[in-house]
Formats: sequence, structure tokens, C-alpha cells
Amino acid sequence: FHLQDDFPKNFLWGASTSAFQVEGAAYEDGKGESVADLRSQNSKFLDTSVSVDHYHHVEEDVALMAKLGLKSYRFSISWSRIFPHGNDKEPNQKGIAFYNKLINLLIKNQIEPIVTMFHFDCPISLVKQYGGWANRKVINDFYNYAKTLFNEFGDRVKYWLTINEQSLLANVPEMNGIKDNDLRLLREKGENSNYNMFLAQAKVYRLCHDLFPDSMIGPAVSYMTNFPYDHTSKNALKSKNMEDLISFIDMDVALRGELPSYYLRYLEDSKITLDYHEGDADILKNGRANFLGLNWYSTSVFKLSNEESPKMLAGVISNVEKVTDDRLMNSEWDFSYDPVGLRFALQKVNDRYPHIPIIITECGWPERDQLENGQVHDPKRIKYLNGHIFELREAIKDGVNVISFNPWSFLDLLSVNDGMDKRYGLVYVNRNNQSMLDMKRYPKDSFYFYQKVIATNGKNV
Ligand code: BG6
Repeated sequence: FHLQDDFPKNFLWGASTSAFQVEGAAYEDGKGESVADLRSQNSKFLDTSVSVDHYHHVEEDVALMAKLGLKSYRFSISWSRIFPHGNDKEPNQKGIAFYNKLINLLIKNQIEPIVTMFHFDCPISLVKQYGGWANRKVINDFYNYAKTLFNEFGDRVKYWLTINEQSLLANVPEMNGIKDNDLRLLREKGENSNYNMFLAQAKVYRLCHDLFPDSMIGPAVSYMTNFPYDHTSKNALKSKNMEDLISFIDMDVALRGELPSYYLRYLEDSKITLDYHEGDADILKNGRANFLGLNWYSTSVFKLSNEESPKMLAGVISNVEKVTDDRLMNSEWDFSYDPVGLRFALQKVNDRYPHIPIIITECGWPERDQLENGQVHDPKRIKYLNGHIFELREAIKDGVNVISFNPWSFLDLLSVNDGMDKRYGLVYVNRNNQSMLDMKRYPKDSFYFYQKVIATNGKNV
């Protein structure tokens, strides 16, 4: 076995975004409404109708990616831009034209497209028709949507991500438009939507391998790496349980093709029943991912709560609580800077699934950046990137098969809960929560830092 001693020559240095967070044009060119659009109607901070107007700035944005030197770009396709109602007979040609334009521009600039099929934006119509992901009908509709994407773009897209942060969607079912006044029923719908996502993805993994045997397909998992508050076995067990239920569940099903026993135990303890059908086990077994996308931001610390009755934490019913580690540099939004945690996390994933190819699909630092004289100084983001890229190389030297790194985010975008107040971009976009301003793009200091990282294949870190 040969160990790598640095980033491989063909390492894909990338950056990441998602459709509703950047595109805008939510009601243009035939696009149907999505759950993300509906959410935004209740808060002008999250206004997806304009977002950061990537839909109308696509040439300029790809030119900036080329200037940065990107080797990959991870973005998502909006399901309701392709199928306005989620399951129309024919796809919306204008939607297909937009993504063809983007993909062709990327390829022209030698940037590898890494495409997410579903990133938090279920077509509203599917929720109205049958309750969205909570209903098994969605399995077929997602399959047909994916098949259309393979037919339209599969000749040029070699890296596919099925669902972004599935466990988050299951744990916060409201993000999928799923409602219920009864908490237990809401949990049950959330877990059934989780199960339907497992089945739908397994069918799509199978289809992809059959159509394009050389392509890579996998989930984009939110990997929340947890540590116990102290050395006691009860806190260690709780922190492990949370990590399994929030993160490893998605990896285990995608790679091992069955529901893990810790999840079955959780369902039983929570009195949640899944709508199993005959043949489901074969679907899961026959459709597996061949790589992992990991969204990794920071570590968390957990301890057993003193309270008697279990509560909801990160959508999991449990008797644990999260503790802030004040020794770390903490951001304003419950994020800590703990880059060694990334190396630790990658070692754990590699121990569990040896040699599995890994793409870091998100990794980023939020700030309230300020534009001053056309410049944005973001030293904390540079520190964050530097630390994580350093540890990433250590993980590669440990033997972890990381093939691509795509920080969140390429440009400033609508944060899921805080709109434009909380910025992650390497490129500043001149708008804020109050006004659209002129939407001009300004590379931040971190853009120039990352440009050097790419040009030297990480030697400057
Ligand atoms: C990930 C999501 O959970 O974290 C992104 O995939 C999201 O869509 C990112 O933007 C950061 O979270 P937030 O809430 O700060 O936008």
C-alpha cells in the first residue's frame, strides 16, 4: 500500500453553493415554487425571488471561478426548475437550458461540475399533491427527476450528489413542508420521509451505475463530529449515539445497503413505525453509493442532561445537551474553529469504510463581512481555510482518500436562517438583508488566499 505524501496532482480544488441560496429568478422561465420559496415568503431576509441573482450573473460568476482557478464547482439543480410541479409529463426546457449553459461554461473553463440533485427545495406541488417526501409516491417522482438529469446532463457530469443533509431534513421535517400538530406524528412523518429518501436514492444509485458505470454518485452528508463533555462512558456513549443518528445513518445506508440496528432501536424506543413494503430490503441492497460527500464545519460537545425526560436536540429525541467549548475560537453562530476535528472525522470515516473516495462538499466560516473601498478583509475565514486545508493534507497522508475540497461558499448567499447577515463567500455580493443594492461581486481577501492554495496545490499552507 502506497501512502500519499501530499495533495494528489489531480486534486479537485472547488467551491460550493446551492440553487435557492444563489439563483434567484424563483418565479421566472417556468420555474415552479419550492418549499424554500414558500419559507422565504414569511421572511424578507430569505427572499429567494432574487437571492444573489446568480441566474442572471452566471457568465460573470463562472468567469470569477476561472479567475480563482477552481477545478470543481459543486452546485445544486432546482427540482422545480426542471419539473415545476415535481412530476410533470415533460421537463421545463428553459430550466434545462439554464443548467446546460452553466455546465457548458464550467467545462469550457476546465471546472468539473459536482451536481446535487436536491438541496432543501422540494417542489411545493408535491407537498400539496400528496404530502411530499412523507409519501412513498415521491420515490418514483424523484427517480424520474434523476433519470431526466442523467439523460440531459449525464454525458458531461461525472460527479452526482443525491440529497443534501438528509438527516437534517428528517429531523426538521418542516423544512420539507411537512406539518403536524402532534409531535409524535410529525416525528413519524419525518422518519418516513427519511426512509423514502433512502429508497429513492438507492434506486437512483442503481440507475446511475447502469447508465454511467464510470460516474460517481453518493449522498451529501452533514457530518457533525461530536465529542463527549468528559471521559465518562455515559457521556461518550451519548455523544456517539448522536453522531450515529445525525451523520453515520446516512453513510451506513448509502454504503452498506441496509438500515443499521442503532436506528431500528431508536425507532422502537421513539414508538415510530416505518411504512415498510416487501422488496424494500432488496432496493436498498442493490443500490449503493460509490463515494461520500461530507459537509463538515466544526465539532460539537455533548453531555448527558440532568433533566429526567428526553427533549429534542438537533431533531433527535434524546436526553443530551450541547455544551460550548470556550477554549476554541467560536463564531457568532454556534460554530467553533477546530480543524484537527476534520482530520479526526476523516480518519473515523475511513476506519468505517476503508478507502472510500470522499469529497468535502461544504466547509466554511460565517462572518458579518464589510465592504470597504472595494475590499473585504476576512482574516478569520483565511485562518479557518488555512487550518482545515493543513489538516486535510494530514488526513490524506494518513491514507484517507479525499479527492476534492469545496468550501462553503463560492459567493455570499442566503444563509438558511439568517439571510445575508451571515456570509460565507469567497466573493462578496453587494446586497444586504434590507436592500438589493447593486449585486456587484467583490473577491474577498480569502479569495486571493485560496487562489494561491489552488495555484500551488496547497504548498502555501
Ligand atoms: C449546510 C447547508 O447545512 O450548512 C447549507 O447545506 C447551509 O445550505 C450551510 O447554508 C450553513 O448553514 P446556515 O444556516 O448558516 O445557512
